[in-house]
Amino acid sequence: MILVTGATGNVGRNVVEQLLAAGQEVRALTRDPGKAHVPAGAEVIRGDLSEPDTLSPALEGVTAAFLYAVPGSAPAFLKAAKDAGVRRVVLLSSLVVDDDAEVQPNAIAALHAVVEDAIEESGLEWTFVRPGAFATNAYQWLGQIKAGDVVRLPFSQAVTAPIHEADIAAVSVKALTSEGHVGARYKLTGPQPLTLSGQVRIIGEAAGRPLRLEEVPPEAARQVMIQQIPEHLVDTLLDLQARSVGREPLVTHTVEQVTGRPARTFAQWAADHADDFR
Ligand SMILES: NC(=O)c1ccc[n+]([C@@H]2O[C@H](COP(=O)([O-])OP(=O)(O)OC[C@H]3O[C@@H](n4cnc5c(N)ncnc54)[C@H](OP(=O)(O)O)[C@@H]3O)[C@@H](O)[C@H]2O)c1
Repeated sequence: MILVTGATGNVGRNVVEQLLAAGQEVRALTRDPGKAHVPAGAEVIRGDLSEPDTLSPALEGVTAAFLYAVPGSAPAFLKAAKDAGVRRVVLLSSLVVDDDAEVQPNAIAALHAVVEDAIEESGLEWTFVRPGAFATNAYQWLGQIKAGDVVRLPFSQAVTAPIHEADIAAVSVKALTSEGHVGARYKLTGPQPLTLSGQVRIIGEAAGRPLRLEEVPPEAARQVMIQQIPEHLVDTLLDLQARSVGREPLVTHTVEQVTGRPARTFAQWAADHADDFR
């Protein structure tokens, strides 16, 4: 049995689907089974990574677990996992974790590094899946796209190599179900650099609508973002965007090396989700 935490999330839902397709038994953890949309075929269980008492039932009979880095939750989860006889943990981490730094460079890196460190010390088999910017971050613009043809953002030329959630899941499934991935820190990106402006245009093409990006001052964007994301993380995100302008982002081939299939393009992602933006 494989436990998938974050089973209702962008990545976790794909992990569940791909594990089921590979013939694995899957238990999907969610804080609210009543509201959860989990792929049929998975056993759904209520659990909260911040409530240790809920973890033992979720981990019964589990051999491997896919873990989200929920702040503060790692020690209790890892203890419960070891007590239950779990052998392997695959962590959804982040590309911004810096292995060489004494002090992590920002709040997002620090949040994931704490969980990585706890897993390394646990004695369990582990793989760290470290994606860069998700293509799904474009969902943050959904409200603006539904309301009109203009997306207002602070850094039109901020550049990343956005990655499809199905590719993050595919690497994670390999690490959960096959040998040769223990101790790996997989840096994952999409196949090509793209500015935010380019992403908006590609979503418009997929949705059959002429979308364009209009720059707004960072402070205006910040005021909107802090309504959805903790303030210190918003500042990190805006700083990362500002610094990326004019730089070549890291592009890796790890998705293809691990899964045997090239990483999906952002155009593919936009086509897969076009209905959401119409
Ligand atoms: N966005 C990016 O560009 C990016 C880049 C690199 C890494 N990451 C990392 O990827 C993760 C986000 O992935 P995503 O987009 O797939 O997430 P998401 O769609 O926002 O979903 C979050 C998931 O976490 C679960 N969750 C939250 N708190 C929980 C708790 N206390 N106990 C149990 N489950 C909990 C939720 O489950 P329920 O609500 O059903 O309980 C939900 O399934 C974060 O760790 C982020 O730092 C993101």
